This record gives sequence, C-alpha cells and structure tokens, in this order.
Amino acid sequence: MTITFKHITKDYNEKSVLSDVSFDIASREFFVLVGASGGGKTTLLKMINRLIEPTSGEILIDNEKITSLNLRDLRLQIGYVLQQIALFPNMTVLENVGLIPAMKGWKKEQIRARVTELLPLVGLDAETYLDRLPSQLSGGEAQRIGILRAIAAEPKIILMDEPFSALDPISRKQLQELVKNLQKELKITTVFVTHDMNEAMALADHIAIVKEGNLLQTGTPQELLNAPADDYVASFFKDYQEDFSKIKLNDLTENLTELSKAFSADAPLTEVLKTLSHRHESEETHA
Ligand SMILES: Nc1ncnc2c1ncn2[C@@H]1O[C@H](COP(=O)(O)OP(=O)(O)O)[C@@H](O)[C@H]1O
Ligand SMILES: [Mg+2]
Repeated sequence: MTITFKHITKDYNEKSVLSDVSFDIASREFFVLVGASGGGKTTLLKMINRLIEPTSGEILIDNEKITSLNLRDLRLQIGYVLQQIALFPNMTVLENVGLIPAMKGWKKEQIRARVTELLPLVGLDAETYLDRLPSQLSGGEAQRIGILRAIAAEPKIILMDEPFSALDPISRKQLQELVKNLQKELKITTVFVTHDMNEAMALADHIAIVKEGNLLQTGTPQELLNAPADDYVASFFKDYQEDFSKIKLNDLTENLTELSKAFSADAPLTEVLKTLSHRHESEETHA
C-alpha cells in the first residue's frame, strides 16, 4: 500500500512541531524516518494509524484519505511495534501474538497454527515458547514476540518506532537482519523510526531525514550518502561504518565474557576470545 503525506502540520498550543511535511512511501518498501530526538518522527508515524491527528494537511493510503476510512478497519490492517517492549504481562506468547487475529475473529485452532508457524521465523521453538509469559523472556526474545504480534494478522502496513534502541548491540543486529529478511519475504509496506543512521542504512529502501518538524531530504541510502542536502544530513554519516556487519570487538568481547560467565564452563569461549583478539591484532598490523 502506498502512503502519502500531504502538507502535514501539527501544532500543540501554538507551538509548531511539524511544518508542511510532504512525502510518499511506495508500496511494499522499507521506509525509514531518521532524525534527532524531538524532531517529530513519532508524531508522523502515529498519524498513519490516527493515534495523532494533523492540525492541517492529509494522509492518504492507496490514494484514499485515511479520515474517510473506518478507524477500526484502518488499525486492524496496521501492525505496530514500540520501543518499550509492550507485551501484555498476563498473557502468554500464544495470546500476545494471537491478539489481532483473535480481534479479527479467527478460530482458536487457526490462531494456534498461525503462531506455531510464526515462532520459528524469528528463531524461537514453538513448543518451548507458546505458553511462556513475558516475564519468562529475555529482552531480545520479547521484542521478537512484539514483531510477530505486529505481523500475525498479515497487516498491509507495519509501523516500528525505535523498536531496537533498548537492546544490546548483538540482539539489535540480529533483529535488524531478521526484520529486513521478514520484510523482503512478506513485502509489507514498513515505516521504521530511528535516530541511528547505521540502522537506517542497513534497513532502508528509502530514508527521510527530519529535523525540528521539517523534512530535510528523502532518498535511497546511497543517494543520501553520496549527496547529503546539507551539513545536518551529512553529520548523520559522521559515524557511519560502511560495513555495518562488523560489530565492534569490544562489544563482542563483553558479550562473550558475560556468556561464558553464564555458562560457568568457560574454557571453550575463552579460546574463542583469544582467537578473536589475535585476529584483530593481526588485521590491525596489516591495515
Ligand atoms: N502531546 C504533546 N503535547 C505537546 N507537545 C508534544 C506532544 N507530543 C509531542 N510533542 C512535541 O513534539 C515534538 C516532536 O515529538 P516527537 O514526534 O515525539 O519527536 P521524535 O519522535 O522525533 O523524538 C517534540 O518537541 C515534543 O516535545
Ligand atoms: Mg520518538
């Protein structure tokens, strides 16, 4: 589904937080909104499922004004993933992921089958996880469930608001890959908010840069990298590493150290660590 923002403004008590923002999101693409905190990203995102209404301007989905659509129908076809892992604590994984299908009137067996089919897509064993409560999940596992909840009922659009910013670097990287692959496979129009250009570059088909309520530039990752519209856009690329798959060795070492503590039988991991630091040293000498 295409999403069109037309001359959107938003004022809160005379204070303008969005000024005349217009842009298009193509059907089935991965679209990323990037900008510093307070720039208006969340406000733009929440206008798509009408959690926030613009002061003026309009949003169209497949060329229809969203204000002319039935609100419940609109929301049922939009998946939504938040930064804070927002699973319902008193509901199992099955019930959390099955929530929207249940609201859409799917039968119990149908829901169970769907959740059983979905869990392996995010690397979780169905039998192990179906009946777990959120308190029995790690942060990364809970966010995987959050993603499944958003896609369970085959939405036409998925909205993600800084979904990985509370996770450790390794889980974040894994979930980015996972979301990118799921999106490639399912081809759901995806709007993703982040303040991290590395994340945007890894995920986006198109990026929009937002600053203080203004849209500065839109383009493909490569277009923005090659021709940033101004210094602000360029500044986002300051820390950009071309090969994003390289997690910093320090992060990895820390995680492996943690892991080896958790396993207590840490000899093999210690060996891995040694190999890694040797390799790193020799790479540096050769560079
Ligand atoms: N309900 C509200 N009332 C007043 N100001 C708000 C409200 N919601 C957001 N804002 C302001 O709008 C601006 C944009 O916020 P937001 O869209 O959350 O930014 P971002 O997601 O880019 O960090 C901020 O200055 C924020 O303080
Ligand atoms: Mg925000």
